[in-house]
Amino acid sequence: MNYMNILLVGSGGREHAIACTFSKSPKVKLFAAMATPNQGIIDCASSSLITDEKDCAKIVAFCKEHQITHAFIGPEAPLEAGICDVLSAAGVTCASPSKAAARIETDKAFCRNLMSDYNILGCPEYHYFADCKDAISFLEAHADIEYAIKPVGLTGGKGVRIIGEHVDFYGAKEYIQELKHDIVLEERLFGEEFTLQAFVDGKTLLPMPLVQDHKRAFEGDTGPNTGGMGSYSMLDHRLPFVSEDDYNTAFSIMKSVVSALAEEGTPYIGVLYGQFMNTKTGPMVIEFNARFGDPEAMNVMSLLDSDAGDLIEAMTTGTLDQFSISFAKQATVCIYLVPTGYPENPQSDCEIVLPETSDALLYYANVRWENDHLITGSSRSLAFVGMGMTLEDARVSAISAASEVLGEVRFRTDIGTAEVLERRIIHMKTVRGDVT
Ligand code: AMP
Ligand code: GLY
Repeated sequence: MNYMNILLVGSGGREHAIACTFSKSPKVKLFAAMATPNQGIIDCASSSLITDEKDCAKIVAFCKEHQITHAFIGPEAPLEAGICDVLSAAGVTCASPSKAAARIETDKAFCRNLMSDYNILGCPEYHYFADCKDAISFLEAHADIEYAIKPVGLTGGKGVRIIGEHVDFYGAKEYIQELKHDIVLEERLFGEEFTLQAFVDGKTLLPMPLVQDHKRAFEGDTGPNTGGMGSYSMLDHRLPFVSEDDYNTAFSIMKSVVSALAEEGTPYIGVLYGQFMNTKTGPMVIEFNARFGDPEAMNVMSLLDSDAGDLIEAMTTGTLDQFSISFAKQATVCIYLVPTGYPENPQSDCEIVLPETSDALLYYANVRWENDHLITGSSRSLAFVGMGMTLEDARVSAISAASEVLGEVRFRTDIGTAEVLERRIIHMKTVRGDVT
């Protein structure tokens, strides 16, 4: 058989889930490049390179050594470094976006300007400031409005401060001063968040099941924002607080963004991640990412039934319109275990012990094996994904596994519970004025 030698870049739980899906394809021979060793990915790969993920020259040399033909990039930092441009120039076909197309994530002002220039729905009121002084003057002149403050560039999901939620007016000014330059002030949106991801080949988008992430550190959506504490998806691949109309609007917004990027001469190939706030008037865009979400990748990739090699082929040859994608009809719950004290004071370098058996899928993130001991790092440690015919079955599977882990780690116990789901449904109805 003619193998596709595919390189996967990245070392997190997201990439472990991607690696598992790729390695299920009989056509794919997987290679990996990662900043810190992830044993789960290493076990899926024929050969792995430990490297700075932005070191394009070293990664190209690894591709040449192993006759790698295709690449898929997990995290945003190498995309911003232009890894796909460098790999493409070296003859490696990328199923991830170029540096220019990835600006949809890496430059929030670019994203908003594109949406505005092309009259794409779902763009909140926004103001870009090159200098913090101008942002502060603007804020002072609009002291009655609660804005979301965002640095233009990448922050690992931790850079947003919302007036009235994370900071007061004075805290907002302090934060803007800290950021110094390149700041976006955005209308604060109210509603329920959801994630829609799609495979994109430059023109066609194939949507994946909807997922809801949980960004806050603690139960009841309290505490600081994190990279994501866990996520769930439902049996029907939709969410009960997202109507058919909402879904169609969100998907058409993503299609419009892909068309706009093509028109700009920077066609988008890869996974496009849409983070939406479902508001009173319909879905509004919180942000786009030029990659899979983490944890959301673990929900959807665990469900993917289609051959991943064929999918990469279709994405990179512009033939997704002829590809019939299939996801298992199951619900999923993903629970991240994080070091005690995460995200502010994570207690790292502690041993954790895994349950001997569990029916949940295990994805490693920031943990390492040292002489048969599993040791935590300072970011999210590992995740369990439960799958089932009901959300509750999926949740019980994930939570049972998570509860049995011993050591200095914790997790949110409310992800995918019936109570939380009900709360979200009622919240959405309240936002829409359907209940008083
Ligand atoms: P981001 O890094 O843009 O994904 O934002 C992180 C989190 O901040 C989001 O998941 C939202 O919970 C919140 N957020 C971002 N922008 C807004 C906004 N305009 N209004 C309300 N919440 C927001
Ligand atoms: N789960 C949010 C992100 O990956 O950015």
